[in-house]
Amino acid sequence: MRAVRYHDHGGPEVLDVDDIDRPEPGGHELLVRVEAAGVNPVDTYFREGSFQPSQLPMTPGSDFAGIVEEAGDWTPGFEADDRVFGTGLGRDHQGSYAEYVLVPTDRIAHLPENVGFGAGGGAGVAAVTAWRALIDHAGLEPAETCLIHGGSGGVGHAAVQLAAATGADVLTTASPEYHEALEGLGADAVFDYADENLEEVVGEYEPAVILDHRLDEYLDFDAAVAQQGARIVGIGNTVPEAGWENVPAARAKELRVHLMSMFNTPDLSRPLERLATLMERGELSIRVERSYSLEEAGEAQRAVLEESFLGKLLIEP
Ligand SMILES: NC(=O)c1ccc[n+]([C@@H]2O[C@H](COP(=O)([O-])OP(=O)(O)OC[C@H]3O[C@@H](n4cnc5c(N)ncnc54)[C@H](OP(=O)(O)O)[C@@H]3O)[C@@H](O)[C@H]2O)c1
Repeated sequence: MRAVRYHDHGGPEVLDVDDIDRPEPGGHELLVRVEAAGVNPVDTYFREGSFQPSQLPMTPGSDFAGIVEEAGDWTPGFEADDRVFGTGLGRDHQGSYAEYVLVPTDRIAHLPENVGFGAGGGAGVAAVTAWRALIDHAGLEPAETCLIHGGSGGVGHAAVQLAAATGADVLTTASPEYHEALEGLGADAVFDYADENLEEVVGEYEPAVILDHRLDEYLDFDAAVAQQGARIVGIGNTVPEAGWENVPAARAKELRVHLMSMFNTPDLSRPLERLATLMERGELSIRVERSYSLEEAGEAQRAVLEESFLGKLLIEP
């Protein structure tokens, strides 16, 4: 089978398409024929080496959607020809930028018939991160006000829809070209993140929950706009250092700050099954901006970091 692999860490140019043996599923594993693999910023962190994969050479890619080609001996609920999607690969298991991928049954769920492979392939990291952040960490409740920074991103656009599905009042920030689309996805108010009055405007809403994907940029902002006792969930940063310039102001708000990694999710199939239900009902729609071939994986990884788009980029083997 053909699989993208990096044999050493480095830039996008270290990605090769290799011909390798198709793996055999172990007892609790499924061999999935990949129809679509989501491209995520984290794929680039493993490739360049700031996050360490368990082995080299490594195939990148956490997310996938496809069809079960072969099931191991102990895979209750799954059999050959099932439509499936999932995430959590590309770190301690070979990833999904390949014609086939081996998936343990705790990282997979059935893909509803009315959901395309593109949407399923793009859902994993983005939607599970949104779920863990808003539901598991923040405990977001109906009618609470929730602020999602960067609503047009992979995580952001999933989080806007998930927050709306819980019945929360959803605020988000994005570049102006995406405002209308985000309102269509359930945002009650959308603000330009470059607006110089952003803190004042958002502060009037006093969000109870904040999803922050750029902690180095927004921690002070979060503390300034947050409601007393708010929950802030941090999922990302652009430089490793982040902190408050005004710690007493943050302390006075009795904030609870949660820092998380999706890869720590104990049983990924649990949120994946719920997300499948939301996708089936049309309450979660994963937007696909563009697809790339295996040979174009380096270009896809460059684009995910450098380009602006709404939703997700995919690899389609
Ligand atoms: N901890 C975890 O488990 C976890 C999981 C998933 C992702 N992450 C991290 O979360 C971050 C986002 O991931 P993603 O997949 O959603 O990436 P993405 O699809 O590239 O989205 C990034 C978003 O950030 C927006 N943005 C750029 N500059 C901004 C600014 N100054 N203020 C507010 N928004 C800004 C972009 O909007 P424009 O295009 O309009 O500029 C874009 O919508 C990444 O750092 C990623 O590594 C962490």
